[in-house]
Amino acid sequence: MDALPIPAIPQHVAIVMDGNGRWATARHLPRVAGHNRGVDAVRKTVEAAGKRAVRYLTLFAFSSENWQRPADEVSTLMRLFVAALEREVDALEKNGVRLRVVGDLAAFAPRLRELIGEAERRTAGNDRLHLTVCAAYGGRWDIVQAARALAQRPADEVTEAEFARHLSLAFAPDCDLLIRTGGEQRISNFLLWQAAYAELYFSEALWPDFDALDFDAALAWYATRERRFGRVRARAAA
Ligand code: IPE
Ligand code: IPE
Ligand code: MG
Repeated sequence: MDALPIPAIPQHVAIVMDGNGRWATARHLPRVAGHNRGVDAVRKTVEAAGKRAVRYLTLFAFSSENWQRPADEVSTLMRLFVAALEREVDALEKNGVRLRVVGDLAAFAPRLRELIGEAERRTAGNDRLHLTVCAAYGGRWDIVQAARALAQRPADEVTEAEFARHLSLAFAPDCDLLIRTGGEQRISNFLLWQAAYAELYFSEALWPDFDALDFDAALAWYATRERRFGRVRARAAA
């Protein structure tokens, strides 16, 4: 039997960036202050991932279900998204980061969709770090939109590989390490397909407090995992 892959640096890290609201509430600030600070944590995490040679970083910024939040919180999040795109794309472009935004973007304002398109085009030639922001994204949405795309195909053509080619993260390998901050231990409709064999790491840090040290702690933990993918342990097989 082949040796099992030795995990060192995960190729694909995904993060559920949770805890912004609690961070703000603990400081007697409005929840949106937490989202504001959350953008700084995104910048630090992108830098940390680049430094550690992670190839794919996928961030959950806004879920299909987050549309159900109060209207003023949703509109603030959209404004922050616009502001972050306007401010950060130069640096991403310079630093070899390729940005993609995936999700059901049809519900976004035209201005936001334009900025997303422009940012994606400007960074399309980059290959050092593939940064994907999941916005208006849900794992179930993704699976259903892939199923729709394949619906007219003969059943025997609908293989796992062909299905995966129609998912919105078709360009990325499966998720190796899934981090969730904020202390909750759930998936909340994130990468349902791509996280099938991800190692799950839960951090108590609220997202605005998450920094390069926390990121490195997650990588160090990941390096101790033995990924078996349903097979038996390397030692037992030898
Ligand atoms: C995560 O922080 C950001 C989004 C979901 C947009 P939350 O806003 O969920 O923060 P908590 O969980 O209420 O603390
Ligand atoms: C998950 O966080 C979505 C994002 C981080 C974008 P939520 O705060 O929406 O998840 P639940 O409601 O606690 O499951
Ligand atoms: Mg939350």
